[in-house]
Formats: sequence, structure tokens, C-alpha cells
Amino acid sequence: MMKKANMVLEKDFKIAEVDKRIYGSFIEHLGRAVYGGIYEPGHPKADERGFRKDVAELIKELQVPIIRYPGGNFVSGYNWEDGVGPVADRPRRLELAWRTTETNEIGTNEFMKWAESVGAEVNMAVNLGTRGIDAARNLVEYCNHPEGSYYSDLRIKHGYKEPHKIKTWCLGNEMDGPWQIGHKTASEYGRIAVEAAKVMKWVDPTIELVACGSSNRSMPTFAEWEATVLDHTYDHVEYISLHQYYGNRDNDIKNYLAQSLEMDDFIQSVISIADYIKAKKRSKKKINLSFDEWNVWYHSNEADKLIEPWSIAPPQLEDIYNFEDALLVGCMLITMLKHADRLKIACLAQLVNVIAPIMTEENGLAWKQTIFYPYMHASVYGRGIALNPIISSPKYDSKDFTDVPMLEATAVYNEEKEQLTIFAVNRDTEDALELSCDIRNFENYQVVEHIVLENPNIKETNSAVNQSVAPHTNGNAQANDGSVSAMLPKLSWNVIRLEKR
Ligand code: AHR
Repeated sequence: MMKKANMVLEKDFKIAEVDKRIYGSFIEHLGRAVYGGIYEPGHPKADERGFRKDVAELIKELQVPIIRYPGGNFVSGYNWEDGVGPVADRPRRLELAWRTTETNEIGTNEFMKWAESVGAEVNMAVNLGTRGIDAARNLVEYCNHPEGSYYSDLRIKHGYKEPHKIKTWCLGNEMDGPWQIGHKTASEYGRIAVEAAKVMKWVDPTIELVACGSSNRSMPTFAEWEATVLDHTYDHVEYISLHQYYGNRDNDIKNYLAQSLEMDDFIQSVISIADYIKAKKRSKKKINLSFDEWNVWYHSNEADKLIEPWSIAPPQLEDIYNFEDALLVGCMLITMLKHADRLKIACLAQLVNVIAPIMTEENGLAWKQTIFYPYMHASVYGRGIALNPIISSPKYDSKDFTDVPMLEATAVYNEEKEQLTIFAVNRDTEDALELSCDIRNFENYQVVEHIVLENPNIKETNSAVNQSVAPHTNGNAQANDGSVSAMLPKLSWNVIRLEKR
């Protein structure tokens, strides 16, 4: 007998307007993300500044609204001054986070101009590892102050008359991690973060700040770290960050696809901690969440051990994603949408070559990894109001999880365009799932298309010449009498798009 799942969608069951920044991404000075990724002078598709137009086109397809930069671990040893001014005068540095050589050919101004050309804002991180409040406030002055001060005039001298007007800033990166350059205790970090936050906002009161949360949910200091950091910074920041990567190390797909439940728990926990500090401070202000690093990351771990130290832009963290990774990425996107009321920024880490949806060949093609597709679908069709779906689904147990729903799903309603989009993953490894979705007060909504990403081989990957993991639009969803019915193939990512007729 066919397995069945039900979902109810009501226009008035609203979670919140989706902040488009949850479809953000990340480019670090790491591996071939910048050099050989977005930037490859001499490539046949490079523009006059050396940036690859074919890569930019793929980024535009993803409609990436915000890009975190320049790190990551890299930022904790970075002198931003090395990357501005005449390129010929820029120093080569030993980059200690990833043991490479940084040429500084690309820096703040080049990156800002490039980001603008792909339609993205930048979420700029400051170095609170080797540096501190002085470098941080100077960078805000350099980027955002119009003119008439040392650093704003220096930017103008460097050829950038208009200020970059960067709104979102990260106060360091993963400062709880012993691997981080300038690793700190929660109190040490809380103190430097609040002092940096104060002066950065004194330079530009319009900016928003993200304080570092834990590097992942398994950190021994998790929870206590967030509470201490927020105790120090609460009145001076807008967001607390979360980072999490998953991997199918045990080759157990049922358990692997359930990991988005852990992500859900992580998000819920950080909301609770933020609200605990709110209560403790009797504050009226709410701290929101920035999930500014999330993805699958494990395929490249062994290869990375073989990289020659101090090389320039070596192929680091080049995970080649398979079909099952795309399904987990889909589940993670749905999970984030379910927290649209508190999760306002998220960055798929990263964007090009480094644990990325987009890969490049040197002097060759740019191509789409499997995870490109769910990310693109969510970014393009997931704008509007995140609805609160009422779901009943068959469940399974796995090694680390109980009651894992076969159906992971949610919906976004775009009031203005009168569109409703259902995102759904069938986690079942054996059977298709018959979805019946009650759309009661969405009168006269008809299915525009039912996009499906499926593959008989869960380990199937893409390459520059082979896109065997790619979506089709032959899904069978239909709308009748206030209800949508659809067959969700076993192990599939589905996007059911409806519009008012
Ligand atoms: O995204 C890769 C790395 O993962 C980042 O540099 C760091 O912040 C995290 O540990």
C-alpha cells in the first residue's frame, strides 16, 4: 500500500516574512574560492577586471542576496590594510589558518565592486583574532564613511569615491574554537566584541552586528558560550551566529537525512538562550539568528591533508557533492524556513569551489554541483511569507534519531504575486509518498509546475561535462477543490509551484 502524508496550509498560519538574506552565501580567502574561482584573469570568460563572467552568471541564477567575506578562519589573521591600495604594493603573507600564501591581489574594494555586479550585499567580517577594536573601527570608517576623515579619504584615494555602505558586520569568526587564530574564552570574546561593537557603531550607527556563537552544536562550551557572549553584547548586537556542517561518514542514509532534525534543535536552543538573556536583562529587544555557515562538509577531508603548505590557492575543501547531499541540503533549507521568525541571515558555506554549489575548471568550464538545485529553488521561489504547515507523516527511527518524519516540508506564500510554493523532501529510501495537501483558503490556485530532483543512485555526482543530478518538471502534482495531491518519489526533493488563476 502507498504511504501517505497530509499537510494543511492556511493563509493565516504565518510564521513570518522570509528575510531574503537567509539565502545568503559565503566566500572566504580559502582554496580556489577567490583566486581561480570568482577571479581568474586570463580566463576566456574573464571581464576587464579579471572576474569570471560564467561564474557570475551561475551566481546570479542562485539570486544570492548577501555574501559573507573574507572569512571564516582566514579573517582571524587578516590585516585588511594589506588588501587595499595599489596591487603592486600589497604584501604576500603566510596565511596561518589554512597554511597557504595570500597574495592580496583581491581585497575589500575589488570584492565589494564584484559583489555589487552579481546583485549581492556583503556581510563583512572583522578580525577579532590577531587584531581588535582599532582595526575594526578603521575598516568601518574606510568602507562606510563618506569623506573627510583619514580612512574615508584613503578609500577615495584608492579610487572608490562612494562609500560601500556595508550594513551587516560579523564580530570575528568562531572565536570559541581552539583552531582559531586568537581563540578566546567566552568572557574574553564577549568583552572584545562589545567594545568593538560600540566603536564600530559610533563610526556608523546604521550598521547591524553579528556576535559569534559556537562553531557547532558539539562544542563543549556550547550554550554557556552563547549565554556569556550575549550577556556582554546584548545591547550592542542584533544577531548571534550559528555554524554547522554535516557528513554521511557512516554511510547510513536514513541517519544522514535525519540530521536536519539536529539543526532544528540547534536553532531552537540558540533562540532559547537568547531569550534567557533577554529575560535576565528585562530587555525589550530580541536577538535574531544568523546561521552564517551551514552545509555538508566531509568528502574532501582526506585530500586536504595532502596539500603542500604555503601554496597559492590550492584546491582545498573541494567536496564533490552527490545526490543524497542535495536531499540533506533541501531538508536544511526547509528547517531554516520553519524558523523564519528568528532566523534572518544564513550563509551556505561556501559559494565557489570551496564546499560549494558552483565549481570551476582552470581555464575551463564552470558547473553546478547537486546541491546547487535545492539552494536555487529555495532562493528563487522561497520569497514571501513562511507558512506554518500542519503535517502528519509516517515516521522512522535511525541510529541517532527517533520519529523522523518521512515527509520534510514547508510552504512559502507570496501575497503580492499570488503564488504558493511547497518545498518537500521524501526521506523514504523505499517508497514513494502520496502527499495530500489541504490548501483550503487558497481559492483558485493551480499547479504551475512540480519540480523534482530524484536519482536512482544516491551517490551520483555531477561534473563539468555531466549533469546527471538535475531537476525535471514531470512531477504529477495537481490541485482540485482546495487540495493538492502529488506523488513524491522515494528520496526526492520537490518544489510544487501554485499560482492563482
Ligand atoms: O567554511 C570553512 C571553515 O569552516 C571556515 O573558515 C570556518 O569558519 C569554519 O570552521
